[in-house]
Amino acid sequence: MVPSPAVPVAVNIDGVLYGQDNARVSVFDHGFLFGEGVYEVLRTYDRRPFLFPEHMKRLRASAARIALACPLTDEALLARIRETVAAAVLEGDAYVRILLTRGEGEIVYDPKACPSPTVVIIVKAHADPPAEAMVNGVGLSLASVVRNHPGSVDPAIKSNNLLNNALAMQQAYREGAFEALMKNHRGELCECAQSNIFFVRDGVLLTPPVDAGLLVGVTRGFVLELAAASGRRTEERVLLEDDLASVREAFLTSTTREIVPVVRIGTYTIGEGRPGCVTRQLMDAFTAGVPGRLT
Ligand code: PDD
Repeated sequence: MVPSPAVPVAVNIDGVLYGQDNARVSVFDHGFLFGEGVYEVLRTYDRRPFLFPEHMKRLRASAARIALACPLTDEALLARIRETVAAAVLEGDAYVRILLTRGEGEIVYDPKACPSPTVVIIVKAHADPPAEAMVNGVGLSLASVVRNHPGSVDPAIKSNNLLNNALAMQQAYREGAFEALMKNHRGELCECAQSNIFFVRDGVLLTPPVDAGLLVGVTRGFVLELAAASGRRTEERVLLEDDLASVREAFLTSTTREIVPVVRIGTYTIGEGRPGCVTRQLMDAFTAGVPGRLT
């Protein structure tokens, strides 16, 4: 084992630790050649991974969808994550990106060309969204690019093929938006380029159904749990652009952002144009619920 580098970014490649400057994988890795791989992003609170079993379950489900076997048990991956987190010199919490690719092999699509998958863990400082975003809410662009069809590269697979997401975000950056809300091939709202989306109407918490073609967000699941536990009605339902005129609140969810209030989407102002009280309640419930879900 290479001695732990005292660096703000630590990378573990197949069990060996590197700093950012010398972390390299082969250009013959099918992850690089074909985008053939899956990943997870999790974060720590007090240096302990949050919702770890949920992330591992999704990693294995994503890998299975591309006929890739994860060579490590959850325990072995956890040990590797802990070792990598310990190697990174961080002031606060860690951002942990786990990548599992087909591995190195000849330039052919045959999986047999790659006998061993590559497992990479990148650890760097977690950055919260700007305080301004949490207090006043953010604006989203309505992406022109359509979210991948579930019958093609299913958005439920957390795949390293992120071109669809990158294209949506390019438009969001051009428009000065925080995130990009995407529609599916049927024109229904499905999810954002990097987060899931929620709305509140008539006191009911609404989010698009998995069938709309979206990543089944771990944070989405946690928020649905929190809402149900507080007695709020939740509904996974089809939502269209026209619904943006009648929803009273909106927010997005992701591992790195928790819950971020949304006050504008394209040309629509959401509700009163400021974060709503259901969103605030869920943000508080989220903070209170974190300690119980650390590993
Ligand atoms: N993004 N939808 C998409 C397309 C995403 O990329 C993500 C997460 C989510 C939210 O999923 P979760 O709650 O499990 O983080 C939804 C991660 C953070 C990323 O790729 O950086």
